[in-house]
Amino acid sequence: MTQQTEHSHLILTGDRPTGQLHLGHYVGSLRQRVELQTQHPQYILIADLQGLTDNGSQPEKITRNVLEVMADYLAVGIDPQLSTICLQSALPALAELTMLYMNIVTVSRVERNPTVKNEIQQKGFSRSLPAGFLVYPISQAADITAFGADLVPVGDDQLPMIEQTNEIVHKMNSLLPQPVLRHCKALLSPVSRLPGIDGNAKMSKSLGNTLTLSASEEEIHKAVGAMYTDPGHLRVSDPGQIEGNVVFTYLDAFHPDSSKVAAMKAHYQQGGLGDRQCKNELETCLQELLAPVRQRRAELIVDKEMLMTLLKAGSEKAHEKTQQTLVAVKRGLGLPVMF
Ligand code: TRP
Repeated sequence: MTQQTEHSHLILTGDRPTGQLHLGHYVGSLRQRVELQTQHPQYILIADLQGLTDNGSQPEKITRNVLEVMADYLAVGIDPQLSTICLQSALPALAELTMLYMNIVTVSRVERNPTVKNEIQQKGFSRSLPAGFLVYPISQAADITAFGADLVPVGDDQLPMIEQTNEIVHKMNSLLPQPVLRHCKALLSPVSRLPGIDGNAKMSKSLGNTLTLSASEEEIHKAVGAMYTDPGHLRVSDPGQIEGNVVFTYLDAFHPDSSKVAAMKAHYQQGGLGDRQCKNELETCLQELLAPVRQRRAELIVDKEMLMTLLKAGSEKAHEKTQQTLVAVKRGLGLPVMF
């Protein structure tokens, strides 16, 4: 690895291991990570502790998905030689930094975070809101800053986390004799949010509208067949709507030939192009995209030992990196660093 300077970029991204990754993850972030790993040092965090913040009473749901996510990463082309994949719970510096940051963030500030607000409502927590869940943006700020990351490829729902991280960076740095933490910015992918196959604004496992990266041929076929289009497009000859038409959103996200998609859109809007034909076109691209991923994934997931060995090696490297930040912050705050 090349020597890093203060000005060279460093990337951190992560995922909660709450289930297998799906097409929403793929277009929102995974696809970009595969490209970025050849350009900058990249760390990828399997955020099991963050996963526990709303799964505290079913830890097995999180622990059993860690290696599933690891297999997803490798299957889409994340290369452990280029990207360091690590496990959040193996990195004590992240938890310690979270404790330190919690003292410089007010409760009302975390309550104002729109993503958290939304999730609290969606999950119907009200009085049963776990304290850990409320403060997970602070823990995410610890993740990002501990690695010294300045670029964070995420979906647009994560923008409030980046904003909050930068506030923490500013506040903490002002308490230290010299700045230690680095400001960061989000790297949004061109398609940062994929709607669910049912037309819901977001693809999400809890909404049951996903296509996982290991979806079978039959599942892909069914999902595309059931996909939401324009309910007003009754006859092939009728002019159809593109806005809110999930099939076209997906064609935009996945079709390699954008001029062909543009021509299809014009034809559809004019009338004369049927939903079935558009769906066939989309299904072909999705089958082509997912067939090799599904096959690689099936080979990887049976070798749990290999997956764990890779995760351990990445976590060791990440431990060293994050520990350095923790020590610098502790020193700056005047806390003794005993070991
Ligand atoms: N909150 C992110 C998600 O739900 C996961 C995550 C945890 C993360 N720590 C991170 C993302 C650090 C980017 C950087 O997808």
